[in-house]
Amino acid sequence: MKILAIESSCDETSASVLDGTRVCTNIIASQYFHAKYGGVIPELASRAHLRSVFEIVNRAIEESDIKMEQIDAIAVTKEPGLIGSLIVGSNFAKGLALRLGKPIVPINHIEGHIYSGCLQDESLNFPFISLVVSGGNTSIFLVKSYMNYEVIGSTKDDAAGEAFDKIAKLIGLPYPGGPLIDKLAKEGNPNTFNFPRPMIHDDNLDFSFSGLKTSVRYFIHKQFSNGLPEETKPDFCASVQEAICDVLTVKTVKAALKHKVNNIVVAGGVSANSRLRTLMSERANKKGINVVVPKMSYCMDNAAMIGFLAYHKLLESQDSFFDFTYQVSASSLRAR
Ligand code: KG4
Repeated sequence: MKILAIESSCDETSASVLDGTRVCTNIIASQYFHAKYGGVIPELASRAHLRSVFEIVNRAIEESDIKMEQIDAIAVTKEPGLIGSLIVGSNFAKGLALRLGKPIVPINHIEGHIYSGCLQDESLNFPFISLVVSGGNTSIFLVKSYMNYEVIGSTKDDAAGEAFDKIAKLIGLPYPGGPLIDKLAKEGNPNTFNFPRPMIHDDNLDFSFSGLKTSVRYFIHKQFSNGLPEETKPDFCASVQEAICDVLTVKTVKAALKHKVNNIVVAGGVSANSRLRTLMSERANKKGINVVVPKMSYCMDNAAMIGFLAYHKLLESQDSFFDFTYQVSASSLRAR
């Protein structure tokens, strides 16, 4: 089964061609221009998707060994995301599916991330724990099959990526600040400042990151009234990163132990964080738990994960997937 997948939920336009579970192409165009506004501007994001979707889909086909006429189904991100951005990808996919007379498979973006570990490592067995951690989401899932998973923990306020970005902004780093905190932290000592780890000892698998952001703001105001000196930034970044990664890893390993699961998948944009990767592996491995972190192009927003899940839905579902009237939905993506 050959699938063309399209993803446009936020600020990446992506298209991918899959032959079964083999990813032939996974083209991703990131909208870097949002950096100068300090965050993603929804209207500009949808216009940029509109400008690039045709070219990105063409590239995905041309650079694969598959022709458009050979495509058996079109997969597309349906929700959650920025409504205008979703509409661009979804309408493009619907038009193409109608022209080709092929089914359309609407996919939930978060589900795409949940199963990206299986795309990375086909030997990964169910059940597993999936931590989806990005700019808009931070949740832990217990994944039982391609059709069955449950949310067992979630952030009560900000997503971890949002915390990275907002704290980065407090010290004058450009958006998105997560990768820059990661980079600066490499030169710093994580034990310099002891920032709070909200909810870390609570008897649940939920998170809260807004308190950390507030506490960091007061800390800077009190200790460095003229702003954080340049030479303190590496230690500051290392300490903030340690606090965030400490909570993420403690809760995820706790989830695996509680549900007696031997595999953890870490997905979403924040899974690129080098400390998160190391700390998760260290803590999980100590308990005999394996950790799968998809490669970068499968961690960030990408169409390959959308096509991969569509393939499994087509295999397992009785649905005919010829409903071209479905509506996209912005639900559950947190505002930045
Ligand atoms: O999944 P993603 O590409 O899309 C959205 O959720 O929009 O995630 C983007 C998020 C941003 O908050 C960004 O700062 C964060 O992932 N991020 C990182 C790193 N790379 C990306 N956070 C910490 N360390 C990184 N290396």
